[in-house]
Amino acid sequence: MHYFITGGAGFIGTHLALRLLSQGHRVTALDNLSSGSADRLDGSGAHLVVGSVMDRDLVFSLASDCDYIIHLACVVGVRLAMSRGCETLRLSYAGTENVLKAATEFDKGVFIASSSAVYGKIANFPVTEEDDSLLGTSKKASWLYSVGKLVEEHLALAYFREQGTRVKLGRFFNVIGPYQTGSYGMVVPRFIARALQNDPLPVYEKGLQTRTFSYIEDALDGLEILLARGLTGEIYNIGGTGEISVLDLARKIIALTGSSSAIEFIPYSSAFGPDFEETTRRIPDISRLAALGYKPRYCLDEALAEIIAWHRGETQRRISVPGGRILKGKNDSAGETG
Ligand SMILES: NC(=O)c1ccc[n+]([C@@H]2O[C@H](COP(=O)([O-])OP(=O)(O)OC[C@H]3O[C@@H](n4cnc5c(N)ncnc54)[C@H](O)[C@@H]3O)[C@@H](O)[C@H]2O)c1
Repeated sequence: MHYFITGGAGFIGTHLALRLLSQGHRVTALDNLSSGSADRLDGSGAHLVVGSVMDRDLVFSLASDCDYIIHLACVVGVRLAMSRGCETLRLSYAGTENVLKAATEFDKGVFIASSSAVYGKIANFPVTEEDDSLLGTSKKASWLYSVGKLVEEHLALAYFREQGTRVKLGRFFNVIGPYQTGSYGMVVPRFIARALQNDPLPVYEKGLQTRTFSYIEDALDGLEILLARGLTGEIYNIGGTGEISVLDLARKIIALTGSSSAIEFIPYSSAFGPDFEETTRRIPDISRLAALGYKPRYCLDEALAEIIAWHRGETQRRISVPGGRILKGKNDSAGETG
């Protein structure tokens, strides 16, 4: 198979590309490298095209030559979307429509990556695919990412109903793994990077908000199951099991890294201003995907051990480069929501 992955140089895209290549498939990745990195695809055999999904002609030409499209390109995460609201919405609507139009024109199947963020602040736990979305007021920019993802979902399902486009939708829940950067607010890589330097871990409010993390290999297993089935016009939660508060996560990472980091409690208002609101719990009901054979293989401790080992290797690599030094990202003092 020849897969065309938009956002293919990002965190999930890179892992996916490497897995598909290892299975003998061909991969073409389209990425504008705004948050992704070309390095890890170098020499992998993937064909990386640096460009934007906003470029209709480019998307059409790449789509015409593939067997299947996986649409991951996005301004990812609440924090980044808050600071790039216009781009987030433009990409969700116009970028996704380019992909859907191309899929329709050339009769290709297309997977659209959605997010647990679409559930907003509903209080049903665990959340099922049939649950309603509950988003806060548009005065709070922190809901922009959720709105963008809902736009992608609605557009994909409208193409499915009206044009017969073969769409599948997966809602990822807090995927973690090597290659994920903490620069845009993702909690696990940020905490691990800081713990390895014995810097304080910033925890918002009292850190009682909880998340259910999904290791990248499990998330890819879920995605693969969906790709292998002929199910179209359906939505699936792709997530892990278990639930942990951000405070306990910080403590766990300090313990697993043997760090002397302190925990710093920061009010949302000082980190994000008054326009911030986030969901306090997020647990997926994965029974719909489990019915197709999905079963997460990694518990949180195993996932964290893999990621910590990768971070240690990266630090070592940077130190061993002649003249290399560890640079702190400009956002390193802020905390995290991802
Ligand atoms: N990582 C998670 O926990 C998670 C959770 C829910 C949903 N998702 C979804 O999965 C997808 C991939 O997320 P990720 O974690 O790999 O994030 P990521 O930021 O690493 O990947 C997104 C990629 O899209 C690229 N991109 C941005 N704008 C582009 C444009 N105009 N044209 C081409 N490429 C562009 C970026 O450079 C980046 O490489 C996204 O759609 C995201 O919303 C991820």
